[in-house]
Amino acid sequence: MRRKFIAGNWKMFNDLKETKNFFESFIPALTKDEQITNAIKNNTLEVAIFPTALSLSTALDNAKDTPIIIGAQNACSDIEGAYTGEISPMHLAKAGITHVILGHSERRKLFYETNSFLNRKVKRALEEGLKVVFCVGETLEERDAGVALAMIREEFQVGLAGIPAKDIAEKIIIAYEPIWAIGTGRTASPEDAQNVCRSIRKMIYGLYDDERAAADTIILYGGSVKPENTKYLITQLDIDGLLVGGASVKADSLIQIVKNSI
Ligand code: 13P
Repeated sequence: MRRKFIAGNWKMFNDLKETKNFFESFIPALTKDEQITNAIKNNTLEVAIFPTALSLSTALDNAKDTPIIIGAQNACSDIEGAYTGEISPMHLAKAGITHVILGHSERRKLFYETNSFLNRKVKRALEEGLKVVFCVGETLEERDAGVALAMIREEFQVGLAGIPAKDIAEKIIIAYEPIWAIGTGRTASPEDAQNVCRSIRKMIYGLYDDERAAADTIILYGGSVKPENTKYLITQLDIDGLLVGGASVKADSLIQIVKNSI
């Protein structure tokens, strides 16, 4: 079922002490806000934090007995073996992690993760019972060349190949993150973001011929989201939630974004 999903992707920020400090401010602020707690109780809102791998246990301990979802920023395409430096999706699931981000443009660009490689990671994560926040988005050059939707379609079709429509709707959250809007302070206009998210929904319908799956899939926008632009973005019809980078690292600004989303 579609619901609002507000997620903080900390990237490589917040060490162990900062993680602890974050939750010490974030949890009381979240739990004392009646509107937020009611929305979470009524299943119309989910709030998720994706800390660094090192901070996952601390985050899990701190968020215990709260409705805050703790997710990982990456997971390996295999569950165990000789993979120095990798993170096992099986270990994540066993530790209580429920979500993982895959296909972020930083992983694609800086760590050469291709669509077909990501497809293996997505399948493995699903096998381990994790939900996947799958990122898609175009570069400025692709946008200017008028091929943004074609690029997104390829990321979707290859990255999520072989995954049935039902799983797309229930276990995959799509995050549309235009690469030119990430960490640049340049947000896609709410109308532009809405248009692409609408096209992604239509694309799901076209690919699977499944109206229900297209209607139920949660689609997020990400790229320079701040408390000030949250309302304009979240009120767009096909934007169900936000994947927040820089503005999620500090508790007060993420709380403000959650508040402005309701
Ligand atoms: P910023 O919000 O810092 O632009 O980052 C967006 C992002 O990449 C979230 O995954």
